[in-house]
Amino acid sequence: MDYNEILAAARECIGPYCKACPVCNGRACGNAMPGPGSKVPGNVAARNYDKWQEVFVNMDTLCPNVDPDISFEMFGHSFSAPIFAAPLGALPMHYGNKYNDQQYNAILIKAAAEYGVMALTGDGVDPEIMKASVVDMGKAGGMGCPTIKPWNKEFVFEKLDVVNASKTFAVAMDVDGAGLPFLKAMNPNAGSKSVDEMREIIDHADMPFIIKGIMTPAGALKAVEAGASAIVVSNHGGRVQGGVPSTAEVLPAIAAAVKGRVTIIVDGGIRSGVDVFRAIALGADAVLIGRPILTAIYGGGAEGFKIYMDKIVGELKSTMTMCGAATLKDITRDKVWTEK
Ligand SMILES: Cc1cc2nc3c(=O)[nH]c(=O)nc-3n(C[C@H](O)[C@H](O)[C@H](O)COP(=O)(O)O)c2cc1C
Repeated sequence: MDYNEILAAARECIGPYCKACPVCNGRACGNAMPGPGSKVPGNVAARNYDKWQEVFVNMDTLCPNVDPDISFEMFGHSFSAPIFAAPLGALPMHYGNKYNDQQYNAILIKAAAEYGVMALTGDGVDPEIMKASVVDMGKAGGMGCPTIKPWNKEFVFEKLDVVNASKTFAVAMDVDGAGLPFLKAMNPNAGSKSVDEMREIIDHADMPFIIKGIMTPAGALKAVEAGASAIVVSNHGGRVQGGVPSTAEVLPAIAAAVKGRVTIIVDGGIRSGVDVFRAIALGADAVLIGRPILTAIYGGGAEGFKIYMDKIVGELKSTMTMCGAATLKDITRDKVWTEK
């Protein structure tokens, strides 16, 4: 199977909203929600993609001829690439009935661990979704990272107890889910967390804690203050708030504020190995990819995941070769050019 065959197969089974486009750039889906789009006016996913394309890589081939090393260290573990799967939830609503969340996560967690990377998984109103992902991570030697919504404290602690009992590699919270109606309707109320509340939550976790949904230097500093081990610079693909900047636009200032104090992961519109290179040059340590990994799994299952990852990894390595970067640490700011 090649990547085009995977996309063709995905188009047969991915539901009415996602078109499994040759490049997942947020245009065909626009504001399709339910579906893979962004909240009204529906331009955030497209902007995420577009802004990476405005970062140009600087070629320099006067350097030792080596096979680039893309291994990535995080929390004492060595990953085969700095590329992880983003959490995606409520799949039947957005992508039809091919997989429910548990079935999709089971394939993803195993395939990612076998590839030497990590899957983050989504949370949902149904608590069984997170529990099932934790069981699947257990089967993958603990490799994986469940993402918990910013429920109220009691419910977050209940969920963390499940995660602690099975010792997953890391745990995350998508704090930008704060405005979701089902959280606001909870009693006691759920949603935004103060630094003190966040610290209490992080202290309750037995593993490194990742805060997903950071979009400002101030937010990043608060995440560090609360004790996060990593942040994900993410606007949730535009699904929780319209009118926000792209992640490529906010990443450099966030990196200037917290680089070296916390691992910086970024997501949103990262679609190629060139994009991964751009993200690292602008200050990220690693990236998450969401929608295209889902398309690859709908079209080709675990094999689809591997084929997609091989494609991105090949592109990253070839960009490193062309730009004189032997390791990820060599992908510095001067390796890219931007107009501003
Ligand atoms: C259908 C769908 C469901 C998502 N569900 C979650 C979720 O449950 N938790 C979460 O943190 N992010 C969720 N996200 C956001 C993704 O993790 C990611 O931040 C976003 O899609 C941007 O990455 P991408 O452009 O590579 O897809 C979801 C995104 C989509 C499209």
